[in-house]
Amino acid sequence: MIDQFGRSIEYLRISVTDRCNFRCVYCMPERGLDWIPRDDILSASEIHEVVSQLAPLGLRRIRITGGEPTLRRDVCDIVSRIARVDGVTDIALSTNGVRLEAMGTELRAAGITRVNISVDSLRPDRIAAIARRDLKFEPVRVLRAAIDAGFAPVKVNTVVVRGVNDDEIASLARLTLDLPVHVRFIELMPVGDMSDSGLERVVPSDEVLAAVDDALGGILPDIGPALGNGPARYYRAPGGLGTIGVITPISHTYCASCNRVRLTADGRLRTCLFGDHEVDLRTPLRAGAPLAPFVARALEEKPREHALLQLRTGGLRALSQTGG
Ligand code: 5AD
Ligand code: SF4
Repeated sequence: MIDQFGRSIEYLRISVTDRCNFRCVYCMPERGLDWIPRDDILSASEIHEVVSQLAPLGLRRIRITGGEPTLRRDVCDIVSRIARVDGVTDIALSTNGVRLEAMGTELRAAGITRVNISVDSLRPDRIAAIARRDLKFEPVRVLRAAIDAGFAPVKVNTVVVRGVNDDEIASLARLTLDLPVHVRFIELMPVGDMSDSGLERVVPSDEVLAAVDDALGGILPDIGPALGNGPARYYRAPGGLGTIGVITPISHTYCASCNRVRLTADGRLRTCLFGDHEVDLRTPLRAGAPLAPFVARALEEKPREHALLQLRTGGLRALSQTGG
């Protein structure tokens, strides 16, 4: 799969559900979203069929996302089916971590090799406030459980929001001193509920790195976790077991090296996180038609770069709807 700009596409993010047990302030409204009707959501065997048809076209690596993918009861079945598809070398999971202590071992056995866990704060009360859910989430315990379950690498995603969690940059970065985790600070993308405050709440990654450098007494550029060919730039504190990364959708775009496409829970292939570049695969799939021509059309339309800063933010979909 090569797109019109010569980028080789080998990475598919599959959203298995648009539902979530969190209501993160930067992601979705407190009342939730208009959920996709159940009948429109791809079944485990339909997801397997999409992967089986994309693998011969060059698909190698998969990430399971949501919403919150562990809410889907058959998530382990989905994973173990696609793990057996020829050509698929790697299946990762993005999760808010709430069910990971209970499900980690089973997910690992099904074929998930590595996880990204959202941790916006080390304070359970603050996590509950950001997620707008009454929950007691102990992030360090969950990270240890993920390491013990055998996931490697274990990455942490922290969306930095000015005035909300920017005072915890140092303590989150210090996790990498004693734990083999890769803490990635993500610049807030002002979509959904956060679009009102515009760019004011974005903490630029240069500021994050300065704070980390200060807190850890000097950091050095690092190659980061193996297989980390995503958009993060990594650093390490001397002697640290893990690394610190920054992901900068706002201050630097990384579209030129974008190697990914996304499958929404209702079977649309989206070629860019932002904008409306998508092709319906569910209709041909359910009609028994081959998917390759539809995939080719989607890739022809994959844009050179996202237009996040030019778009009226109100028109953007929440990330839980597009598969993060
Ligand atoms: N800005 C930046 N990151 C976001 N995520 C969700 N919404 C936003 C946003 N508005 C991140 C979450 C999660 C990943 C799937 O996407 O933190 O780690
Ligand atoms: Fe759920 Fe992730 Fe969105 Fe938070 S960011 S509401 S955990 S999908």
